[in-house]
Amino acid sequence: MRLLREGKVKNIFQLENGNLLLKFSDRVSAFDIKFDQRIPNKGKVLCKFANFWFNKLDVPSHFIGLRQENAMEVRKLSMIPYEFIVRGYYYGSMLERYTTDTDFKYLFGVNLTLKKGEKLPYPIFEITTKSEEHDVPVTRDKVLDSGILSGDTLREIEDISLAIYKTIGSIAKPSGFIIADVKLEFGFDERNELNLADSIGPDESRIWLERDYQPGQTQGSYDKQLLRDWLIEIGFKQEMLRLASRGESPKPPRIPEFLINEISDRYIFVYERITGENV
Ligand SMILES: Nc1ncnc2c1ncn2[C@@H]1O[C@H](COP(=O)(O)OP(=O)(O)OP(=O)(O)O)[C@@H](O)[C@H]1O
Ligand SMILES: [Mg+2]
Repeated sequence: MRLLREGKVKNIFQLENGNLLLKFSDRVSAFDIKFDQRIPNKGKVLCKFANFWFNKLDVPSHFIGLRQENAMEVRKLSMIPYEFIVRGYYYGSMLERYTTDTDFKYLFGVNLTLKKGEKLPYPIFEITTKSEEHDVPVTRDKVLDSGILSGDTLREIEDISLAIYKTIGSIAKPSGFIIADVKLEFGFDERNELNLADSIGPDESRIWLERDYQPGQTQGSYDKQLLRDWLIEIGFKQEMLRLASRGESPKPPRIPEFLINEISDRYIFVYERITGENV
């Protein structure tokens, strides 16, 4: 077993049989900033969650099986260098990108004013670049121009992504959770077949408790949004943007102990509630 690369969250090992082992660490990143501290049990929860979703979803995927509590074996794919996002709610980066009636008219064909966190008329599909820095939205035309994907494959990815969002949302709902959005990655296997890759779990989704859901508000969330919200609260995000304009990036602040514990508890809570299993 050979370490191929250390991602922001996962370590990727090459196995003797040609497959990969994705090992989930307790590392945490937000706004693409890596923190020095660890979130206890996070790796385990993410991996077991991925195992749960891959088993539930009826789509071709790279998933082979769980190998350790925090490691899964997957087929090695040639990854598509984009991230595919489905959003069911007006939140996150969408708040900055769609601000006027005309923006929404362009998107949905009707004039709309939506409150932060409000449900969209229907889920929308977006594409972003995958970069070490910050992921930026790209248009379909740009993707097609790049020659990386054909129109048919892009449509297939869109259909599968929307179907996955619907399925995970309907599985989470009876446990009282809303899946606000999800980020997906895909790749091609040796037969050039499209496969769902990477992972699905609290690091790829915004997960809200239906009981606490209040459109117009910042939603209490069961993923790393809590960390993002704290970073915004302490002015770190602003500082980050200020430095970014000079091509610099800030040192990650120290996450307070109570927040680390709270985030860890929430990862465990959402896993146990949705899957019905203990961590
Ligand atoms: N089946 C697969 N074959 C090859 N690479 C994969 C496969 N599944 C996931 N990957 C890649 O493995 C990496 C997972 O690690 P991690 O999510 O920690 O990386 P990351 O720092 O987020 O990197 P990136 O910005 O590329 O996503 C991602 O780059 C992902 O695209
Ligand atoms: Mg990743």
